[in-house]
Amino acid sequence: MQIISSVVDMRVILREKRSAGQRVGLVPTMGSLHEGHLSLVRKAKKLSDFVIVSVFVNPIQFGPHEDLAAYPRDMARDAELCEEEGVDVVFSPSPEMMYNKSHSTYVEEVFLSKGLCSLSRPGHFRGVATIVAKLFNIIQPDIAVFGQKDAQQVRVIDRMIRDLNFPVKLIICPIVREKDGLAMSSRNAYLSSEERKRATCIYGALCHGQSLYDKGERDAQRLADEIRTLINKQNDASVSISIDYVEIIDYESLERVDKIEKAVLIAVAVRVGQTRLIDNIIIP
Ligand code: PAJ
Repeated sequence: MQIISSVVDMRVILREKRSAGQRVGLVPTMGSLHEGHLSLVRKAKKLSDFVIVSVFVNPIQFGPHEDLAAYPRDMARDAELCEEEGVDVVFSPSPEMMYNKSHSTYVEEVFLSKGLCSLSRPGHFRGVATIVAKLFNIIQPDIAVFGQKDAQQVRVIDRMIRDLNFPVKLIICPIVREKDGLAMSSRNAYLSSEERKRATCIYGALCHGQSLYDKGERDAQRLADEIRTLINKQNDASVSISIDYVEIIDYESLERVDKIEKAVLIAVAVRVGQTRLIDNIIIP
């Protein structure tokens, strides 16, 4: 396995692989890899011949008061995990390599990027779309693998691929969870042990939503209210739990629905202490 930090070196290797007829798979990440990321890597291994994992904590998708500086970084461990999974190249450029001092070009999806996470993270999806477009241009993968964990992100990337004619096939993998249901996330490392325990209420509330649906509830507002109530119950003096959003939205358009008639996404963002966690399920 090679670890490459230069765009030019990356292009040289890829030219060789492509002319040898190899199918290139890309898994974009910000590192601090866990089983969720590794599930994407395994999928990429199945569907392509040459797998690249990018590890880059993308500064432009973080807001000015967000956790860019604190974001967990452990390149040695990430490289080890990638090696074990049979990854061919870890691409880990520096911020200076990716963003010239006078960088002034951005990619912005303007419909699906509205609402949900962008309300508390303005500019976030512009940062994501820009870095992913850059990675697509540098690596020119045949397939790119993303996780359903970041539901709005996959919709935005899907739309960007379509709208800007990127010749890449998007593969979406299901959410990988801890044994107690908490969706795996690099940010779970921020949680204190008490916060970690309480954080299980997020998936618990989503499952409650699912069971209400199974019993026949089709009113989105009532279902969302039930979920909010369950999560809010966990808020007390020892751990602050506050809901950023609980939304029941159309899977494709991400628009709010009143009645649940076809596949919808129950998407939530919850602050547990200082840590903002997101999760979602698709029903039915
Ligand atoms: P990051 O949070 O590191 O996630 C990288 C990829 O792993 C994303 O596609 C994300 O949806 C997926 N992932 C994270 N946790 C997962 C889980 N529990 N189960 C399944 N997949 C999971 O998302 C980003 O980085 C960045 O925004 C990026 C796309 C790399 C652009 O900077």
